[in-house]
Amino acid sequence: TMLAAPAFGTIAGHVRQERLAQRLADMGRIGATVKGGVNRPALSREDGLARALLASWAAARGFSVETDGIGNLYVRRAGSDPALAPVMTGSHLDSQPTGGRYDGVYGVLAGFEVLEALEDAGLPTRHPVEVVAWTNEEGSRFQPYCMGSALFAGKMDLEMVLGCTDPQGVTVRDALAQTLALAPAMPVRPFGGPAAAYVEAHIEQGPRLEAEDRTIGVVSGIQGSRWFQVEVTGQEAHAGTTPHGARKDAFQAALRMVSALNDLMADPDDIVRCTFGRFEVLPGSPNTVPGKVIFTIDFRHPDAAMVKARGDAITPLIQALAAPCTVAVKETSTTSPVDFDPAVIDAVRAAAVGLGYSHMDMPSGANHDAKFMAPRCPTGMIFIPCRDGISHNEVEYASPGHCHAGAAVLAETLYRLAR
Ligand code: GLV
Ligand code: MN
Ligand code: MN
Ligand code: MN
Repeated sequence: TMLAAPAFGTIAGHVRQERLAQRLADMGRIGATVKGGVNRPALSREDGLARALLASWAAARGFSVETDGIGNLYVRRAGSDPALAPVMTGSHLDSQPTGGRYDGVYGVLAGFEVLEALEDAGLPTRHPVEVVAWTNEEGSRFQPYCMGSALFAGKMDLEMVLGCTDPQGVTVRDALAQTLALAPAMPVRPFGGPAAAYVEAHIEQGPRLEAEDRTIGVVSGIQGSRWFQVEVTGQEAHAGTTPHGARKDAFQAALRMVSALNDLMADPDDIVRCTFGRFEVLPGSPNTVPGKVIFTIDFRHPDAAMVKARGDAITPLIQALAAPCTVAVKETSTTSPVDFDPAVIDAVRAAAVGLGYSHMDMPSGANHDAKFMAPRCPTGMIFIPCRDGISHNEVEYASPGHCHAGAAVLAETLYRLAR
């Protein structure tokens, strides 16, 4: 039989704002940029150093550390009942190329702060509580995104993932080996395994909490998302001599495609999201007609039917506009919208209420590892505000007070799930 839950604040009272802020600052030095952000690409040297730092903190507190075939890093505080599955939390240590000091790392360190708070409080839990730093959430260097959580959830093939390359042609396999060599050796566990629940804390990365003056976002789910990589092949030619009618200009073909895609995605309600984040024009010489263009498409929508219909229209539209060039379209990531578990959503909201924080329910526009955990176990998320709603930007900022509030809500939520 279970004892009645202690009053809200019992664990949150041990969550220390300065310790969390200090750990965020320490992590923010790894891959620090001059503009105050971080560049910590997935499976880079900086990613390896960040893992090593987290592992050293874990060792200092006596928490066990494990990894798996894609380098996910699991920090575990043991539970009192060995038969029970872990209650999990976490996020990612990789960043965008011009990333901020909070996206991802905040969720990992808020989780770690909860482990420390439980330890400081001397409170045992029946379930183990586990913090995971998932490999390559961002997908900015290697596609597909969220490969760590997707492999954990059994949603990707390891050999396929290990064979993926970055724009320089480096494979995940080689980058992973180099990154893991920078962190201490740790036991390797199989993918998956039981999970009792997963709750991820993250900055909102958008403007709503700040606009509504709320401290906690109780996240209801995540919109769908499809990524494509388009490779247009034309023919390099002399810019001064080659008549336009005789050219196979890969850039002009790409321009037609982008223009048609903008028409396809036009939405007066501004709910559709469509972004061409990478655009490479080769060979990149002023006086050579471009022979190749590589560009990416990031398309998102909260409605599954739209994600399917509009997403399925992308490839045929592109193919119809390629002539006289040729085109290859590859879909690099596909995720449907997910709804989080009502009981976890309620638990997060109850913790926010119990601790006296202003809050609101909201969906997530950004992707998170929680999207892949949601089909596997009861899952939810906690958002905190970020200044001016800015993220994927070096000036990204969340206040120490808000970081503390999110960790406090996470602590109460995890404790109630794990006790
Ligand atoms: C990841 O940060 C995403 O939402 O694209
Ligand atoms: Mn993130
Ligand atoms: Mn991100
Ligand atoms: Mn993300």
